[in-house]
Amino acid sequence: MPKLASYNGKVDLIENIKVSPMSRAFLFSDSVYEVISFYKNEFIDFETHLDRLKHSLNETQISCSIEDCKTEIEKLLSESKSEDGYIYFQVSRGVDSKRSHFFEESDCERFGFVEEFSFFNQSPLRVMLVDDIRWQRCDIKSTSLLGNVLQMNDAKSMGCNEILMHKNGELTEGGASNIFFVKDKTIHTPELSSNILPGITRQQVIKIIKDKKLDFQEGSYSINDLNEASSIWFTSTTKGIVGVEEIVNLETKINPECELLEICKDAFVKKYFS
Ligand code: PDD
Repeated sequence: MPKLASYNGKVDLIENIKVSPMSRAFLFSDSVYEVISFYKNEFIDFETHLDRLKHSLNETQISCSIEDCKTEIEKLLSESKSEDGYIYFQVSRGVDSKRSHFFEESDCERFGFVEEFSFFNQSPLRVMLVDDIRWQRCDIKSTSLLGNVLQMNDAKSMGCNEILMHKNGELTEGGASNIFFVKDKTIHTPELSSNILPGITRQQVIKIIKDKKLDFQEGSYSINDLNEASSIWFTSTTKGIVGVEEIVNLETKINPECELLEICKDAFVKKYFS
């Protein structure tokens, strides 16, 4: 199916969209983004994604009307023939006349596209534990993802489809997802910090865990905690909740079959995808 996209509010087929090479997104990765899923033509947690986009824009001092973003994202969905999928939407600081690290007041540049997609029936993940080599503001959903990209492709060469990152032994998150693990029948997840993206799916899963009154803790965890874990899960807009079958470079006792994981998955699908 032809891919529909939007550039500064104008919707067209993606191949018809022309972007300047002087875009700061192209030159500096000077841009932030969101990935928002929709099901049966309805967005999942749209306002929460817009709030996070606002946070990313504020923290990077990119001036852009969140109302314009909202209108453009809604227009993309309404013009799309896709029932289920996600919208990728990025905002850059704009197009420069000369390449300069110093930015000036400029018109922001908005670009988005629709992707037909369903994450149901994903197989458990094979994961590699890696150093978190990213910058120190991972709470901003920036398109500067070279740290994630390099580590994920190293992991791919080892037959993996995700990474689990740690900073000096402290667990942070996945390459494109947040992590949960079960230890002593309690579900744990690293607490939010500037080293972690505040995932929307993470937030949805925490709500479910609390609604179901399951034992839960947020905190600071080390690689050693994984040795004791009975199950590890990853969450994201494009993965939903998915279990890990193996960490290729760590001895663990994990089992992808986990009752607590099934409870959370069932509740998640019922709440957001039915
Ligand atoms: N990534 N952490 C990182 C580094 C991520 O890139 C993502 C999502 C998440 C999960 O966030 P959420 O639940 O809001 O999707 C956590 C998106 C899907 C991506 O870059 O494609």
